[in-house]
Amino acid sequence: MTKTPKVVNISDSAMVVLIGAAGSGKSTFANARFRATEILSSDFFRALVSDDEGDQDATDDAFELLHLTLEKRLRRGKLCVVDATNVRAEHRAKLLAKAAAFQRQAVAIILETPLIICVERAASRAGRSVSAAIIRQQTKELGPQLADDLLREGFASVFHISSLDQVEIERTTTATARLK
Ligand code: UTP
Ligand code: MG
Repeated sequence: MTKTPKVVNISDSAMVVLIGAAGSGKSTFANARFRATEILSSDFFRALVSDDEGDQDATDDAFELLHLTLEKRLRRGKLCVVDATNVRAEHRAKLLAKAAAFQRQAVAIILETPLIICVERAASRAGRSVSAAIIRQQTKELGPQLADDLLREGFASVFHISSLDQVEIERTTTATARLK
């Protein structure tokens, strides 16, 4: 029996924010569905400034560039997929402020992967390791109230994705002006 795909509707000028613990599958999800230039990954920007995607000392510089790139793309009405854990409201607030500044739709996609799977994947990952304690803490921040919180924060829609879901991204073309 084939499962009906879960349809994720997004405007082609939206800011899509992936939310999930380390190892939840955010980058795998994004890389399979979006153009490389549409994905703003914290790991990519860490690597860009330090040659090491796992260099936590590069985090501040990496996010500075991520936010700057986000702003430039949103201004042009270009789709942006923010690939970082995004489990903390204060981090999401900075992203939401940018989407609001350019009147772009903000969409949240929660990667609902069980803690044990995230930990297993993280442990077997070459070149970068995130401890089980950190992943547990990240998962805790994604409680059952998260979807309500996200809508209250300003996301226009929230999608829950599990690794069993077949996902189809449906892009809606919108007449977006490039803003000055
Ligand atoms: P990702 O590297 O996609 O996770 O997958 P992530 O959420 O982006 O993690 P961080 O936050 O950057 O640390 C982690 C591992 O799990 C495998 C991937 O191949 C990768 O090795 N994976 C992911 C699966 O085996 N199945 C999936 O459905 C998704
Ligand atoms: Mg990743």
